[in-house]
Amino acid sequence: MIIIKNKHSIYKMETAGRLLSAIIDEISLLIKPGITTLELDAWIAAQLKKAGLCSRMQGYMGYKHVSCISVNDVVVHGIPSGDMYLKSGDLVKVDVCASWKGYCADMARPFIVGPAANADVQKLIAIAQSSLDKGIAQAYAGNYLTDISAAIQKEVEAHGFGVVRDFTGHGIGKQMHEDPEILNYGEPGKGPRLKPGMAFALEPMITMGHYEVYVAHDGWTVKTEDASIATHVEDTIVITAEEPKILTRLK
Ligand code: MF3
Ligand code: CO
Repeated sequence: MIIIKNKHSIYKMETAGRLLSAIIDEISLLIKPGITTLELDAWIAAQLKKAGLCSRMQGYMGYKHVSCISVNDVVVHGIPSGDMYLKSGDLVKVDVCASWKGYCADMARPFIVGPAANADVQKLIAIAQSSLDKGIAQAYAGNYLTDISAAIQKEVEAHGFGVVRDFTGHGIGKQMHEDPEILNYGEPGKGPRLKPGMAFALEPMITMGHYEVYVAHDGWTVKTEDASIATHVEDTIVITAEEPKILTRLK
């Protein structure tokens, strides 16, 4: 069942999104060669606390951290580690879900470590972003859910990248994960019609190579099967009577 949020719930999600995106924007200043992903997680934990946000990842199915930090061929759900030192040229995806007064925002952003900018990696990041934007451009009341999915897939594949099938976007609200599941691929015109008050976390996961992924022995880390570099970007949005509202891009 897709829960329709009222204006009070949306206000709380919006506050969560605004506070969370300020933290994720600022983390770019810390992402430098030599820092570990565990240090980044600790910094995020301190910032969440300061902002009055509650981590929704810590404690979720036994997860111990407040963020997932995924480097290079790790697509999503990378576990922060004191042994994982970032180096110049690494592609780091930082994913955080947190709530304000019980309502969640979920977001992820990719960052390249240091000045070493590889053109292919930059293009991968740009297409993940444009695919998300094309998905959001379908997020209007009256459209079908899979209009979003199809728009994402079309953009990713038009540029020769792979779109991950095994993980999806999701509804969001009081819970980090609510109905519906939002595939990043598929035919348009299917699934429920979108209605004002529906809130979604849209999160294309795309690869330079094949789209197959596997979960590592730790039970969390998701890696590309062919070891190709992957990226991930995520925003929380709300369907309205007009433009979709992007809660994790508010200033
Ligand atoms: N924020 C994530 C998502 O979009 C990852 C959740 S896994 C967790 O679904 F355990 F770390 F919370
Ligand atoms: Co999510």
